[in-house]
Amino acid sequence: MKKDIQKQIERLREEVRRHDVLYYVHNAPEITDRRYDTLFAELKNLEAEHPELITPDSPTQRVSEQPIEGFQTVAHAVPMLSIDNTYTEEELREFDKRVSKGLEGGAYDYTVELKIDGLAISLRYEKGSLEQSATRGDGRRGDDVTANIRTIRAIPLTLEGKAVPDILEVRGEVYMPKRAFAELNAAKIEAGEPEFANPRNAAAGSLKLLDARITAQRKLSFFAYALGQVSTPLARTHFESLEKFRAFGLPVNPNTKKAKDINEVLNICNSWETKKDKLDYQIDGMVIKVNRYDQQDMLGMTGRAPRWCIAYKFAAEQAETVVESIDVQVGKSGILTPVANLKPVKLAGTTVKRASLHNFDMMAKLDVRCGDTVVIEKAGEIIPQVVDVKIKQRNLFESKPFELPTSCPACGGKVKKDENGVYLRCVNPHCTAQLKERLGYFVGKGQMDIDTLGPALIEQLVEKGLVKNYADLYQLRFDQLVQLERMGDKSAANVMDSIDKSRTQPLWRLIAALGIRNVGGQTAQILSDEFGSLDALMNASVERLTQIEQIGPIVAESIYEYLNDPKNIKVIEAMLAAGVKPAPPKAKTSAALAGMTIVVTGTLKNFTRQQIEQTIKDHGGKTSSSVSKKTSFVLAGEEAGSKLEKARQLGVEILDETQFLKRIGK
Ligand code: IVH
Repeated sequence: MKKDIQKQIERLREEVRRHDVLYYVHNAPEITDRRYDTLFAELKNLEAEHPELITPDSPTQRVSEQPIEGFQTVAHAVPMLSIDNTYTEEELREFDKRVSKGLEGGAYDYTVELKIDGLAISLRYEKGSLEQSATRGDGRRGDDVTANIRTIRAIPLTLEGKAVPDILEVRGEVYMPKRAFAELNAAKIEAGEPEFANPRNAAAGSLKLLDARITAQRKLSFFAYALGQVSTPLARTHFESLEKFRAFGLPVNPNTKKAKDINEVLNICNSWETKKDKLDYQIDGMVIKVNRYDQQDMLGMTGRAPRWCIAYKFAAEQAETVVESIDVQVGKSGILTPVANLKPVKLAGTTVKRASLHNFDMMAKLDVRCGDTVVIEKAGEIIPQVVDVKIKQRNLFESKPFELPTSCPACGGKVKKDENGVYLRCVNPHCTAQLKERLGYFVGKGQMDIDTLGPALIEQLVEKGLVKNYADLYQLRFDQLVQLERMGDKSAANVMDSIDKSRTQPLWRLIAALGIRNVGGQTAQILSDEFGSLDALMNASVERLTQIEQIGPIVAESIYEYLNDPKNIKVIEAMLAAGVKPAPPKAKTSAALAGMTIVVTGTLKNFTRQQIEQTIKDHGGKTSSSVSKKTSFVLAGEEAGSKLEKARQLGVEILDETQFLKRIGK
């Protein structure tokens, strides 16, 4: 009886998987969506009646109900490379000449693919089942986003067929189809939340959510286009690998073509320049790859990019529209930025209403005026730019040059141009526009992370005079909050609670939150690790600061200046007095091995057993005595034996001592 049910469940799972592949890989569904939903529901019901039979590879188990705690960084077994760009036929022909020369006259052909505008992901399949997926990160290490990747129905949880290598890493692009993007943004506007600038950002944002249930609603999709680590060779050419991928049930872009020479490559590329708008996903160019793997190896790589692969980028998309008005915004350090409000216009899949004019020098050079017809561009940039003004279309009688602000548009205070700089600043220390920006930054996600303090609340707190500096946030009282607009007992309690929680944020977050010029999150972490306490940092001289390798004289100067300004000292002291107690950094040398499990084997030249274990711990990793699929890498010294062998069998990465030292930055 139980056996029968298990069989039935397995049959249903196979059936659902088969229809997934028909739909996503072959673009040839055999059943209606409705029939599919019925099948799926049938499986779900049976599993609900027999929860002991649920396995993680069941199509019903894509979406985890558990919140994600945060993303672990994981090492890529094979680095994820980036590729060089070309923009013209000439440059592409030069690439071909380099290839021809590098292959010393041997015959070769290319694969030509669409360059999907999403984000690169590595999928690791072990014995055909999806075990891990990570973002590209810096190419060597990325974020483990497995829980979110599993929600993408185009990505199989298990691969089909018998010929699947034990270890198979597939690289490809996660993207958001144009329609899903438009729907998502419409919903965002409805909810009063900011829109995503483009489908790529939307896809990236969706993969970084801490709730897989939301990612599951984002309608992401996927195309496979490259091979990472593989335990047994898959094919002789890239094109064959793509065919294998497809046979395994992985979606490969159907517009992938072989080309026998560069002329054919160019024909294909040119044909897409116009056809691309008909696709239901965004592409920003083409990718051209030398087909044979032995020839790829022969060509090797330069710096960070392979010599056998190149991107051919389409010209940036442009649109014409009219400048309806020009606003001046005040930033957190008082910088005034001109922003053009535009007659809404479609550009590269989004509707553009505003464009930054960067600064008044640039604006003057272009001579942008109210009422002008302008050309805007989104050259892979997130924020659209004004690149040209159609002076001929200007109404000469009405048009007036934009006048530089002589006072701050927010507080009416004095403005001054930076010495040797391009920026105009409001120099009023009490400017409330600056204060709001600073507070917004202070509570931001990368700083103190107080998510209940949104812009509308900050606005009220500043306007009512309840908050004049960072320290005032920590002296707010419940009875003050409940009196504010749209603030019930419950939300006030939430705000109090999240402010309270932020008191013990790690030290680096507090340093970053201060908004010291030239000090972002990364520098803040360096300072936190170096000094260990706010007190020590505040007592550091410029000389002491410049001794730190990653800190140059300009950054050292701005840190010193900020921390020795009596006004700032007063605020910091008031914060500490109000119970802000930043958590000191953990005593580790770096986080280079964070989250990793490492097996050490053989005799090392530079370390005793105890020393190496301590070193691994100091860099955030842990050691284990046996090699398994979960091992991040094996550090192999001389005369390594069975553990090294096991690592080879499992396809676990193996480092020698020199590579290990490099990994921990020595
Ligand atoms: S191949 C070494 N193929 O473009 C080869 N990349 O600008 C690695 N991309 O990081 C990449 N479509 O995110 C390749 N058909 C395609 C692609 C593609 C989009 C992305 C990918 C890569 C970026 C480089």
